[in-house]
Order: sequence, then C-alpha cells, then structure tokens
Amino acid sequence: LQKLFINNEWCKSSSGRKMAVLNPATGECICEVEEGNAEDVDKAVSCARRAFQLGSLWRRMDASDRGLLLNRLADLVERDRLLLATMESVNSGKLFLMAYFVDLMASIKTLRYYAGWADKIQGKTIPVDGEYFTFTRHEPVGVCGQIIPWNFPLMMLVWKIAPALCCGNTVVLKPAEQTPLTALHMAKLILEAGFPPGVVNVVPGYGPTAGHAIAHHMDIDKVAFTGSTEVGKLVQKAAGKSNLKRVTLELGGKNPNIVFADADLEHAVQEAHHGLFFNQGQCCLAGSRVFVEEPIYDEFVRLSVEKALKRVLGNPLLANVDQGPQIDRKQYDKILELIESGRREGARLECGGVPWGQKGLYIQPTVFSEVTDDMRIAKEEIFGPVQLILKFKSMEEVIQRANHSQYGLAAGVFTTDINKALTVSSAMQTGTVWVNCYNAVSVQAPFGGFKMSGSGRELGEYCLQDYTEVKTVTVKIPQKNS
Ligand code: NAI
Ligand code: MG
Repeated sequence: LQKLFINNEWCKSSSGRKMAVLNPATGECICEVEEGNAEDVDKAVSCARRAFQLGSLWRRMDASDRGLLLNRLADLVERDRLLLATMESVNSGKLFLMAYFVDLMASIKTLRYYAGWADKIQGKTIPVDGEYFTFTRHEPVGVCGQIIPWNFPLMMLVWKIAPALCCGNTVVLKPAEQTPLTALHMAKLILEAGFPPGVVNVVPGYGPTAGHAIAHHMDIDKVAFTGSTEVGKLVQKAAGKSNLKRVTLELGGKNPNIVFADADLEHAVQEAHHGLFFNQGQCCLAGSRVFVEEPIYDEFVRLSVEKALKRVLGNPLLANVDQGPQIDRKQYDKILELIESGRREGARLECGGVPWGQKGLYIQPTVFSEVTDDMRIAKEEIFGPVQLILKFKSMEEVIQRANHSQYGLAAGVFTTDINKALTVSSAMQTGTVWVNCYNAVSVQAPFGGFKMSGSGRELGEYCLQDYTEVKTVTVKIPQKNS
C-alpha cells in the first residue's frame, strides 16, 4: 500500500524515488511512499484512456451497475471506517473523532449519494423543426485529472471520484504529498469493490512534478483541483497552454461571518468559534473575518476569547483534545508570520499568537480584535487557528466590507431579523451563505466559489454538469411527399 496504483496494480515509481510521510503531531516518519512523476502520470493516463475507450468494460456497463460499484465502495469504507479515521488522524493531525464522525460520515454519504445518481443522468428530447428529431445525451467528459489537498484528504478524494465515476468518467488522482495514506487505502478498496482496471488510478507525488504533469497533459479531458488560489491559476493557465481541458477549481477563502446585535449571542459566538477553529483553521470555508455589530462587540470578543482559551491542545487521537497540529512546517511558519504581521499592523492580540508544546506543529488558539480591513491578516487566507473580530456599525457598511475581497467562497450571517438575513444573503458575493449557522455543508447541495475562490460546483446535482458533456443528436425524419 505504499506504491502507485495504476490499472488496478501496485507499482513502483519510474524514478525509483520515494517520499517520506510524516505525522505532524510528532514529526516522526510514518512510512515512505513511492513518488510518482510525469512519466508515472503518463502511464496512468494511458490506462485511464484505455478504460474509457468505447466498447470497454466500463463504457458498456449498465449505468445502474456503476451505482452498485459506488455503493459497494461505500460498504467497504464503512467496514474500514475505524482504520481510515485513524490513518487520517495520524497522517494529517486532524482529531480522530472528527475524522471518524465528520470526514468518514461525509465520505460515505457522498459515495452513496452519487451512487444514486449513476442511473438518473438523462438527456432530453427537444422539439425542433418537424423534419428533425433532436435529443441530447449527457456523456462522461473522459479522463479526469484530480488534484487534491491535505486538509480533508479522504473527503476531498471522495468529493472528486464519486461524481466523476457516477457519470462514467475515468480518473487519475494525485493526493497531496503530505497525505497519501488514506488515498492509497481507498485504492485498495476500489480494487476490492470490483471497478475495472484503469477506471481509478492513484499517483502520489509532488505538485510541481506529478501535479504539473496532470495540469499540462494533452490527453486529460478535465482537471478538478482543490488547493491554493496561486496553484489554481497555474492549473487554469496550463489548460490554456495544453489542450483546453475543462477546469474546475475549489480555492481559497477569506470568509465573512456577520453577527448583528439582535442575534442569539451565545449561539453566534459558538458557531463563529467552531466556524474558524474547526480542523485547526485549515478550511477553505473558515469564517476568519468575524464582523460584529458595535453594541455587542466587546461582549462578543470576551466570550470568544474565553472559548479559545478553553481549547485543549494535544495528541489528536485522544478524545479530550480539541486541537491538533498544523499540517507541516511551511503552513506553521506562514501562520506565525501572519500573526506577527497582525501585531505589527496594530491589531490587538487577545490570546494565543505563539507555538504550543515541546514537539509537533501546534499553534495556540489565537484571537485578534480591533482588526481593520487593510491589515494583511484581514485580507490573506491564514489557514490556521487565528480568529479575527472586526467591528461594524450599519448593514450597508458591513455588506460592502464583507464583499471587499478577492475571494467569494462562503459567508455567514447571524440575526433574528428576517429582512436582514435575506438582504445580506442576496448581497453576498459568495457561493454559500449560512444564516444562523456555519460550516453546514451538505452533500446534496452545491459547494463552490465566486470570484477567486474558484469555478464550477462540487456536490449536489450541479456537480454532474461539470463531469458530463452534453451532446446534441439530430436525426432527419424522412418526409412523405403528399
Ligand atoms: P497547494 O495549492 O500548493 O497544494 C494543493 C495540491 O496542489 C497538492 O496536491 C499539491 O501537490 C498540488 N500542487 C502544488 N503545486 C502544483 C502545481 N504547480 N501544479 C499542479 N498541482 C500542484 O497548497 P499548499 O501549498 O499545500 O497550501 C498553500 C495554501 O493554500 C494554504 O496556506 C491555504 O491558504 C491554501 N489551501 C487551500 C485549500 C482549500 O481547501 N481550498 C487546501 C490546501 C491549501
Ligand atoms: Mg503549494
């Protein structure tokens, strides 16, 4: 399980190189995994192409049977849930209980949800000029390159492969270099479930080598990417430079969470807290800009700091722990550097702001108040346990400030006034708006970004559009000459 998975076989990397997989809680090496490069990607793509040829097992398969395979995979994930959650926790530093209940539950649900779609993806018959009969076919796009990040390694894999496979595509997936372990175990389960060879290929490797090869490949029809905005731009550019492959991007966020004075205060504090600190703050949808209306500002800050100080840091496998380590040294340094910039630029550090513990990449839960919009911490994605609380006076003002961002992934609004809730939710330039809740992602509902948070939608029925091509077929009806 430490090899590349190509054409339902385990193989060594063509370069003979391996990469070390670390436990971020201890810094220890868990194991080594074969490191795929451009040559390995090539090999995987040609197998995925063969599996996609008309007449192949996969293309001839009854659509319902694709659903059956996805459901079988879901059964196997349920069977191995404990193992997968443990692996995920040890490899990514996320809390075991979160992995078990949130990530695994969401992954199983997503597999079953798209299993259900497999035989319900239908075209239309379209009335045109009476001399013709016209219908559409919703066909799979083809070979899909999928590049995923380390913050939800298993869930991101499932968000990618489930819709791709239910539509009948084939896949070459590259997990993040930090977190290949659950992806490789999933490859084992894909084999066990009975997917034909070449339908799913998993090639662990680095971004600038294996990832670059996927983005630039001439025989990949679509690429789905989740990660930084910076690399998202590279991926889109690569598509333009190569074969104009379809691109969907799930990128960063600097998400506003707006709390009006009439909101249920305790509830808003709790949701804002969880909306930021969940998964060590390593979420594209983290509600990092918390805008609080003036009359409740001081109280909101006080309660938020109280909560942050209560967080227990430690071994993510333990049930009493609330916060694990950051994923790697690069992220850890980036977060501490941004915290430093916040201090320098005059934000008020209410708590945290420094590392924690003797080993591992832990950062104390951090809260800044008196943050202004022009500070770096208010503009850049921090991707760490750093909550920013900003003050606002009017709805018009907060709408304008909340939207003043290159990003547009998600927003939250807390109020008991239906008019405020509706006004803010229609004004937000974001793919998701939560009212009186945060982080409430459902597999049935689309998820994605406006502006530089990405393009395309994952989850729900909308995602199917990004994994199918619509073909119009027009048939001439022989006319009787009367
Ligand atoms: P990244 O965007 O570099 O990595 C994400 C994936 O892209 C990984 O699989 C990586 O190997 C791959 N990749 C990297 N360079 C590539 C290239 N040139 N061509 C093709 N694929 C490439 O993100 P990184 O460096 O791990 O984190 C940097 C920042 O990105 C974070 O601090 C955070 O702000 C943001 N991020 C956002 C995520 C999200 O969920 N939207 C997930 C991870 C990071
Ligand atoms: Mg990077």
